[in-house]
Amino acid sequence: MLPLFLLLLSHSLPITTQSTPPTCKSHPSLPTWPSPALWSSLNTTLSGRLLSPTPPGAPCHPTHPTLYSPTLCPSLQTAWFTEAFHTSDPVSSYWNNFNNDSCLPDPRAPCTGAGYPVYVINATSVADVKAGVDFAREHGVRLIVKNSGHDFVGRSSAPGSLSIWVHHLRGVEEFKEGYTLQGERCKGKKVEGHAVRLGAGMQMVDVYRETGRMGRTVVGGNGRTVAMGGFITGGGHSILAARWGMAADRVVEVEVVTPDGVVRVVNECEGEELFWALRGGGGSTFGVLTSVTLLTIPSPAVTTLTFQFATTASNPSAFLAIAHFVSAFPALADAGVTGYPIIFNSVPSTSNPQRLVSGVIGILIMLDAPSPSTILSHVQPLFTHINITYPGQFEFYTDVTSHKDFAAWYEDNFDPSPVGYSSVMASRLLDKEALTGNVTVLKTALERFSAGGQATVYIVSGKGVFEAQPRGGGTAVHPAWRRTYVHATTSVSFPALDAKARDAAIKASNLYADGLRELAPGTGAYVNEASKYEPGNWQKTFWGDNYERLLKLKREVDPNDVFWCQPCVGNERWQEVGDMLCRV
Ligand SMILES: Cc1cc2nc3c(=O)[nH]c(=O)nc-3n(C[C@H](O)[C@H](O)[C@H](O)COP(=O)(O)OP(=O)(O)OC[C@H]3O[C@@H](n4cnc5c(N)ncnc54)[C@H](O)[C@@H]3O)c2cc1C
Ligand SMILES: *[C@@H]1O[C@H](CO)[C@@H](O)[C@H](O)[C@H]1NC(C)=O
Ligand SMILES: *[C@@H]1O[C@H](CO)[C@@H](O)[C@H](O)[C@H]1NC(C)=O
Ligand SMILES: *[C@@H]1O[C@H](CO)[C@@H](O)[C@H](O)[C@H]1NC(C)=O
Ligand SMILES: *[C@@H]1O[C@H](CO)[C@@H](O)[C@H](O)[C@H]1NC(C)=O
Ligand SMILES: *[C@@H]1O[C@H](CO)[C@@H](O)[C@H](O)[C@H]1NC(C)=O
Repeated sequence: MLPLFLLLLSHSLPITTQSTPPTCKSHPSLPTWPSPALWSSLNTTLSGRLLSPTPPGAPCHPTHPTLYSPTLCPSLQTAWFTEAFHTSDPVSSYWNNFNNDSCLPDPRAPCTGAGYPVYVINATSVADVKAGVDFAREHGVRLIVKNSGHDFVGRSSAPGSLSIWVHHLRGVEEFKEGYTLQGERCKGKKVEGHAVRLGAGMQMVDVYRETGRMGRTVVGGNGRTVAMGGFITGGGHSILAARWGMAADRVVEVEVVTPDGVVRVVNECEGEELFWALRGGGGSTFGVLTSVTLLTIPSPAVTTLTFQFATTASNPSAFLAIAHFVSAFPALADAGVTGYPIIFNSVPSTSNPQRLVSGVIGILIMLDAPSPSTILSHVQPLFTHINITYPGQFEFYTDVTSHKDFAAWYEDNFDPSPVGYSSVMASRLLDKEALTGNVTVLKTALERFSAGGQATVYIVSGKGVFEAQPRGGGTAVHPAWRRTYVHATTSVSFPALDAKARDAAIKASNLYADGLRELAPGTGAYVNEASKYEPGNWQKTFWGDNYERLLKLKREVDPNDVFWCQPCVGNERWQEVGDMLCRV
């Protein structure tokens, strides 16, 4: 018989660590879920920054005991379709399906917190982030990272989880005359050029404004609220990339909290492998970025061609003309023309909704062009060709404008896409071979890809991406980016609370994309704007030959899978079972 005090002691010995690991991550319904006292002590560590989030649609639900408000509900219903609402909410994401429609601002829908994290750390410091990573690791709690909540593949939300909300990690620091790399092994090595350090929660609109004030700009995205955390870890495509490389190509240093809870500053001489992986290897996989230091670029003058050409949808030549136009994109990009063209396929004409039309609409730009007419001299021959080949069948619209710098251009041309509904995406990177190899095959593929109504064929890569010299010799973005000209996406939206409609949308988006997968079998897809349900070997699709190297690093820095998401590097050992995350 052991003395009583030894018996008591034996209960507190870490014997559980010797037994088989739990089969699921801690969940509020499991005995492994940390006690209220443990959560409370985490809150103390965080000086009270632990939130117990309320379901975002609650003000519209009479069933909600405290938040129901017939006066607030109508404004919430309007705000739901804005980026600002989801960005400033601790848990809401832009696409309802990624919160499992569990509390929409509609009194007829159910409202629970089931599709949202249980607790949120409103992080404003590196220490807050570290506390969250440590807690999740020590208690086996499912961990997510939310920044803006944009994510098209739903990586910034999960049920039954602890979320580190990095939106309030703000701040801009300017380095006017070069940047001295931190870390002993860097021995004060200096990177030439103008640089800025940005808090990981900084969003495009703020970054363009801040750098604009410095007379500079960054290789950035087109959405206003896209935040640095997700943007950089995905690689970051840009209308400026054909000249300057991708956003990740211009990063010189990253501060990150790794799964072991260590705060690291990584760059080309300190933590090189992690530095490589954090630039394109995907969000919330290797750690939480707290800041990113990157080289800015001189702000260019921008000439913009706003254009459209369209024909009756039943015209059998519609997609021949569209394919002719799209096949010219490599030549346009090589000549310095980039932009955001969108194919529309059998959509009602704005002037006459009875009439269905097909064509291409969008903007194309040139940087520092010698004159406003330069851009037309590149694009007009394509319209003329279509006009002559199919006389009288197409209508054309063109308008050229000029902006003195990129910040001014952006204020007029940011991506105003609506949010707040259910949607899935599919995408493909297209290289020169895919775009110019066989225009008949391209025609069929584009027609199929846009069958849902529209598809983007963004010209966001080119010479600058092909010839980029990222610090440390490379980044983890899919190697196919180095020969890609066009990033093509299509989305399928569907009604809420309808599992059949959701499954049909997933199926449809993948069927649409099959044509492009066949057209460009050797490329891949951009992980930030893609299908969460990409069929086949998605690891290869999103990272190509970089996958093995990324996986090896993931196992080293996160041996116990503190971070898990889909589609994310090294997630193969766990799967979602209902609202839990369990070992395979
Ligand atoms: C209107 C619109 C326009 C867009 N335009 C562009 C564009 O021009 N170019 C482009 O490349 N993309 C663009 N995107 C896509 C954008 O890159 C992705 O939505 C990206 O995931 C946004 O990152 P986020 O941090 O804002 O979003 P979140 O949804 O909050 O996060 C996305 C992913 O990154 C992770 N993450 C976020 N912050 C951190 C961090 N600090 N540390 C570790 N992981 C983190 C999250 O966990 C998640 O996995 C656009 C999206 C929209 C909706
Ligand atoms: C954390 O502490 C703050 C301040 O005491 C409190 O307002 C908040 O409700 C606490 N969070 C949780 C989840 O209990
Ligand atoms: C999160 O923290 C920021 C910065 O301190 C604060 O402005 C904001 O109100 C907090 N949000 C919530 C929901 O507590
Ligand atoms: C198309 O051809 C018609 C007839 O020749 C001409 O009037 C029109 O300007 C042309 N439009 C374009 C965009 O080339
Ligand atoms: C283009 O592809 C089609 C269909 O596969 C084929 O019939 C045609 O011969 C190809 N054209 C060229 C120029 O290779
Ligand atoms: C989503 O909600 C449905 C209906 O309430 C439920 O059956 C399903 O398990 C939920 N899915 C997840 C991933 O939580």
